[in-house]
Amino acid sequence: MANWESMYKEKLRSREEICKEFEAGYKCVSNSQTAEPVGILDALVDYLAKNDIKGLEHYLLLPLKQQKYMDKESEPYLHHTAHFISGYDRAMIWEGYGDYMPSHYSRVPILWRDVLDGPDVYYCTVSPMDKHGYFSCGTSPDLSNVRRKAKKVLLEVNKTMPRAFGSFIHISEVTAFIENDEPITEVAAPPISDDEKKIGDLIAEQIPDGATIQLGIGGIPNAVAGGLMGKKDLGVHSEMFCDVMVPLTESGVITNERKNINRGKTVVTFSFGARSTYDFLDDNPGVEFLPVDYVNNPFVIAQNDNVMSINSCMEIDLFGQVCSESQGPMNFSGSGGQVDFIRGAAASKGGKSFMAFKSSAKKDTISKIKPVLTEGSVITTTRSDIDYVVTEQGIVKLMGLTASQRAKALISIAHPAFREELTKAAKDMHIIV
Ligand code: COA
Repeated sequence: MANWESMYKEKLRSREEICKEFEAGYKCVSNSQTAEPVGILDALVDYLAKNDIKGLEHYLLLPLKQQKYMDKESEPYLHHTAHFISGYDRAMIWEGYGDYMPSHYSRVPILWRDVLDGPDVYYCTVSPMDKHGYFSCGTSPDLSNVRRKAKKVLLEVNKTMPRAFGSFIHISEVTAFIENDEPITEVAAPPISDDEKKIGDLIAEQIPDGATIQLGIGGIPNAVAGGLMGKKDLGVHSEMFCDVMVPLTESGVITNERKNINRGKTVVTFSFGARSTYDFLDDNPGVEFLPVDYVNNPFVIAQNDNVMSINSCMEIDLFGQVCSESQGPMNFSGSGGQVDFIRGAAASKGGKSFMAFKSSAKKDTISKIKPVLTEGSVITTTRSDIDYVVTEQGIVKLMGLTASQRAKALISIAHPAFREELTKAAKDMHIIV
């Protein structure tokens, strides 16, 4: 009989001991969000400073809490680069002691495998080992394939991480690990505004029974979910498992029975939300957490019919070009899986994608529909990729429209306070006559 328990004892380390696995100049890649190994990182920053070991690099998407490595004085020891920026690392990146590496989410593991030739360390938080010697990657196995190119695999075992299905790491693959039962981070769902409810209802009307849905972060996805309560046999193939998917599953709306691939299973690459969602995911064979190079691969997404992709943006211009990740030249978030899912939905039989946002920002002082994108804005989604655009003012389908028809359609769903100036700008640019 395999002796996984003795292997477990051999590889278990204290926080101080595991720090000795790291060397100057190491590149370290973590699974995302709740799977960031916060206990290891906390100890590591102190260890590196105490021993004056410099030049390590930490790569991650979307940290969910404030941590020591985000302090300016930690930077010479552990430099952070985000593949997707959150409210926690945005300041350090804007001030220049952190950095951002652009990539479609589906391609991040491929970057690490084929372009960057693997990291020195792959690390993440996992759930406790089972009797077969496996640790579940829990709520975020997104970059777990990167471990196959890493010199060392370091884990943080946490009892509060759900034992989710789909992605496991075996004790025999692990270099060393620590135990840390500090609760994984919960994130409260934002309240749904009246405008978001209108947007949600407009999108829900377009979603047929049996569709496979992708919902992202924020108020709009939650609002869409409200409008889905009367639907039948929905499937989920989505980057994120969000809180609202729990009631949709428990009420029998999500069955996954009409999917062509992964039939009967909700497929996602990460989740963060309420503790009750983590409890729902624990030991739940109905939800498969798979690496992002599978889940977000547009060729995989397209294998289901009627894929419905719902995303949001910062601004869109009258040509239909979308910026979702910067405020002018300032990196705000990341491209994430937006283009992965828009292209997957476009290639899916009956698929649709929705770019959904409130028509104005900053208390109605700024239109999110602009004549041209703000100078320096990063184009996340090109005009040739954009399909439906939705605001609280209405819904338009840009795919198949000419340049002037697109501009008119976009102006029709702009906030009324900006329609006149948008029309004038469109005329001045000779988009419309
Ligand atoms: N000009 C200036 N500021 C703007 C703006 C604009 N056109 N649009 C939004 N803002 C401001 C908001 O006022 C807000 O600022 P505040 O926090 O100071 O109030 C901030 O930018 C964020 O906007 P908000 O509308 O609250 O963002 P959100 O939480 O709905 O997220 C995106 C919107 C675009 C940032 C987010 O969807 C994203 O990062 N998308 C890219 C990745 C993606 O789509 N991934 C796939 C799905 S998981």
